[in-house]
Amino acid sequence: MDILVVGSGAREHALVTALKADKSVGRIICAPGNAGIAHEVETRDLDATNAQAIADLAAECAVDLVVIGPEVPLVAGAADSVRALGIACFGPSAAAAQLEGSKAFAKQVMDEAGVDTARARVCGVMDEVAQALDKFGAPHVVKDDGLAAGKGVVVTNDRDEALAHAQACLSRGVDARVVIEEYLDGPEVSLFGITDGTMIIPLEPAQDFKRAFDGDAGPNTGGMGAYSPLPWAPPTLVADVTERVLQPMIDTMRERGTPFVGLLYAGLALTARGTRVIEFNARFGDPETQVVLARLASPLGQVLLAAATGTLDALPPLAWREGAAVTVVIASRGYPENPVTGDLIEGLDAAGCVEGVTVLHAGTRATAAGIVTAGGRVLSITAQGESLAQARNRAYKAIDRISIEGAHHRSDIGLAAAR
Ligand code: AMP
Ligand code: GLY
Repeated sequence: MDILVVGSGAREHALVTALKADKSVGRIICAPGNAGIAHEVETRDLDATNAQAIADLAAECAVDLVVIGPEVPLVAGAADSVRALGIACFGPSAAAAQLEGSKAFAKQVMDEAGVDTARARVCGVMDEVAQALDKFGAPHVVKDDGLAAGKGVVVTNDRDEALAHAQACLSRGVDARVVIEEYLDGPEVSLFGITDGTMIIPLEPAQDFKRAFDGDAGPNTGGMGAYSPLPWAPPTLVADVTERVLQPMIDTMRERGTPFVGLLYAGLALTARGTRVIEFNARFGDPETQVVLARLASPLGQVLLAAATGTLDALPPLAWREGAAVTVVIASRGYPENPVTGDLIEGLDAAGCVEGVTVLHAGTRATAAGIVTAGGRVLSITAQGESLAQARNRAYKAIDRISIEGAHHRSDIGLAAAR
């Protein structure tokens, strides 16, 4: 089986690494990829936001399966374009990807499916925003309705800041909407389910660190690190969320005539009143994928193909490695606000020599002078260990060997859980 992986982040590097380990997978092409991915498999230029360009490349390369990493092409209909050419695709249709593309749509489907989430109001004008902020009280949660690359959500006690973010969201266009919701208090969990539109198989849960700095300080980011498993989580968490969240969502999407095929990512808050959905994404999470796939022992290509071809019921149960995985993101100077790129990255090989460590690339580019930074999130240093503590030690040992001018990372990924 030949596979095209679309995307250029550490998530795609993790996907490529796992697919390479599956003996049923032949040729792997990644587009556009990054400097690290290009080291391992063939890469091709691609405008990964262009649905038709993705389908055309899949046809040109005559692959058997396309795996789409990021949300933007999915929302733009890339999976529809690929399937229209008769090629299997792991990723939802544009209609189904609206679970991520519109927070208001996701709330509507959750309501139909009876899935617990934060109470919310969808607002089109500032008067409604002000009323909703008062109704739910502080801390205020203000979300851009549409895709915003992880930067659409503001959580704040400052009413003026909440109003200002709502105003910014609404001024994006005449149809712009903003979602105001109640604050959910409790630890967050990311749980992924792989689905063929009928059946959904949960993966192991992970925890993401969204804020830029240690102690959950600073602005929200795409994610600064993750770990798995979650030693503190209730043992029934995965079964409960599968039964009460993932399966009802998949059933409802199918009944609506827009089956969801691919990866459904539930972002959850474990509150005192029970588990609540914070958001859905229509794709693998980044950086959680780096730790979840590090622990997956089953052949990934076969799992994704079964989902894409409606045959998950014939798949043997997933197998998982013992131990734990931790990933720590190294971000460029100025991330998330104004990332500076073009800085030389030193120590990559030395870092990769640390036992249990895989250096996954995100925003990197090869130049004559060496590999340089080319994006906000630069590397995902991923380590496996017998315990969370060992995986953490290995990841941070590898990080000590890397130097990038002005780069930053969090030093507390998985720290509380390891203790
Ligand atoms: P989202 O893009 O919806 O995942 O939101 C990004 C982050 O904002 C989440 O991971 C949470 O940390 C935070 N967040 C979003 N919605 C809420 C909420 N209702 N209550 C508390 N925190 C939230
Ligand atoms: N780690 C958060 C996300 O992938 O959206």
